[in-house]
This record gives sequence, structure tokens and C-alpha cells, in this order.
Amino acid sequence: MAERARVAVLISGTGSNMAALIYASRAADCPYEIVLVTGDNPDAPGLTLAAAEGVPVARLPRPTKDGRAEFFATLDRTLREAGADTVALAGFMRILPAEFVERWSGRMLNIHPSLLPKYRGLDTHARALEAGDPHGGCSVHLVTPEVDAGEVLGQVAVAILPGDTPEILAARVKIAEHQLYPRVLADYVSRAFDAGWIEAQVDALASRLPEVTRKTSHGSPGWAVGPEKTAKLFAIIADHHHGEESVGLLVKASGPDEMTGLIEAQPDLYYWPKYYGASGWLALKLNRRDVDWDQIAEWLERSWRACAPPRLTKLMRAAEEF
Ligand code: GRF
Repeated sequence: MAERARVAVLISGTGSNMAALIYASRAADCPYEIVLVTGDNPDAPGLTLAAAEGVPVARLPRPTKDGRAEFFATLDRTLREAGADTVALAGFMRILPAEFVERWSGRMLNIHPSLLPKYRGLDTHARALEAGDPHGGCSVHLVTPEVDAGEVLGQVAVAILPGDTPEILAARVKIAEHQLYPRVLADYVSRAFDAGWIEAQVDALASRLPEVTRKTSHGSPGWAVGPEKTAKLFAIIADHHHGEESVGLLVKASGPDEMTGLIEAQPDLYYWPKYYGASGWLALKLNRRDVDWDQIAEWLERSWRACAPPRLTKLMRAAEEF
């Protein structure tokens, strides 16, 4: 199994979702571990439970009225010091500054007690009851600067029964929350190693370039540039090719000297792909947690330029001069 994701959980209160995440992480095949529990309330009961379960806890002082920026700077530092690569909000009752959200963009999840996009914000159960909805429910979503508005990663609907009060419904929804959050978090942190997901990310970047079509290379997914008949491959995904341990992206480098230099300098990222290396293809390892997708986009563009017909690269240069 790939190294486990290092998750920090942020809470303000009870921490029952936090507990669900901790206990799920005890399974031998769970792809994440909880490396820290912290939050904005040093007396949160959840912190005591986490500590009793042997999970590292940071009791940060409550943010003061004017100390919001300072609090989030300390929080950010604490998360980094714990080596967290993913943040799970679980009843963390603070609006996050945009800068903090930006820093953890794509790596911060939240659980919300409604079927989003319905009922963002508070009092979700009362609102569902008032509207006469047949179901309440919960959602796990990515955190973006707008509250409760990020991509929904998973949901569970929970039936509303006659006589339900917001409290009764909340308790039933919590049961669903405790099932949903560990599962969605596990899937989310695993996708960095999923060849299908990796291919979709590369496809999104490669398809932004002009005149790109999909083309296979000896059965591997690839991207080519130019008119269909003469289209030239500029990127290929080698998924555990010939026993290699990597899912690699093959791109055109300038030649063996550059390839050797890069592989020596950053052996975790670059490697010489079997069979393809001799014809100038450099491999970048993509089944990693910390892929820099901007860097991948740059390599794709560079490789595209090296393979595109002059008519297209000329157009590109002309466009850049504007
Ligand atoms: C949960 O209902 C969660 O959906 C919401 O806050 C509550 C936290 O409860 N964001 P707990 O502290 O996990 O018990």
C-alpha cells in the first residue's frame, strides 16, 4: 500500500465525526492516519478523547476578537509542523480566511449536515423539516472560500420520520455522517494513486492545448498534436509499464543530457522509462501525493511545442506577444 495520507482533524466541540475518522483509521487497510486533532476551542471534549486514544492534540488558545489572522497563522503552522497533508473539518465552527483556504486548496474537506446544495450554513435540520422534505442527510465536500459551496464528494440521504424534531433528525443524520466521512476521506486520499484519476487530470490539462487528440501508444493512453493522419504523440501515460512501479507521464525532453541531469537531481520525480527512454521520452512519476500539477501543465506544453507542426507553434508565439 502507498504511504498513508497524514490527516489533521479540526473540531470545535463534541468531535463524534473526529472519533469516526480515528476509529476508521485503525483498520489495517485504511489509506489515512490521523496525525493531529486541533481547533479553536482548547476545552473541546473531542480533544480529550483524541488524546486518550493516543492521537496528538494541539490545544490552541481561543482566537480573540482581533486575533483572527494570528490564530489562523498559528493553526497553519501547527498543521505543517504535524506533517499534515490533508485537513478534515469536523464541526469546526469558524469561517475560514480565504488565504488559509487557498493554502489548503484541494486538500481540505468538510462534513455538512444537509444534502448540499440545499441548506448551506446553520439550522439545516430545522430548515429541512420546515420545508417538508422527505429526506435530510449529510454531505462531504471540498472546502472553498465560499462557505459550504465546494465540490460535493459524497452524500447520504436520511429519511425524515413523522414526529421528527431537529434534534431527533440530527442524531439520525450523525449515524450517516459517521459512515460517510471515513469512506469519502479514504477514497479522496487514495485517488492520487488511481491511474484512471491521474489520466483524467492529464487529459484536462492536455486538452487545453491546440489541436490535441487522443491516441494510444502500444495500448497506453496518449495525446497527440496536429491533423489526425499525421498527429504526433507528445504525452503518454505508462501505467506500471513492464513492471515499473510508477504511473508515469512520458514527455519529450530535449535529449539524453537533460534527461540524465533531471533524473540525477530529482530521482523521486523523474525516471528513465523502459523502452521509451532511448527515443527521448522522459518519465515523470505521477502516482504521488504531492504532484505539482502546474509543473505537469508546463511539461505538457513544452512537449506539445516540441511536437506541434510549425504552423501551430507560430500561432502560439504570436498569441504570446499580445
Ligand atoms: C456535524 O453535524 C457536522 O456535520 C457539522 O457539525 C457537526 C459536528 O458534530 N459540520 P461532531 O462534533 O462531529 O459530533
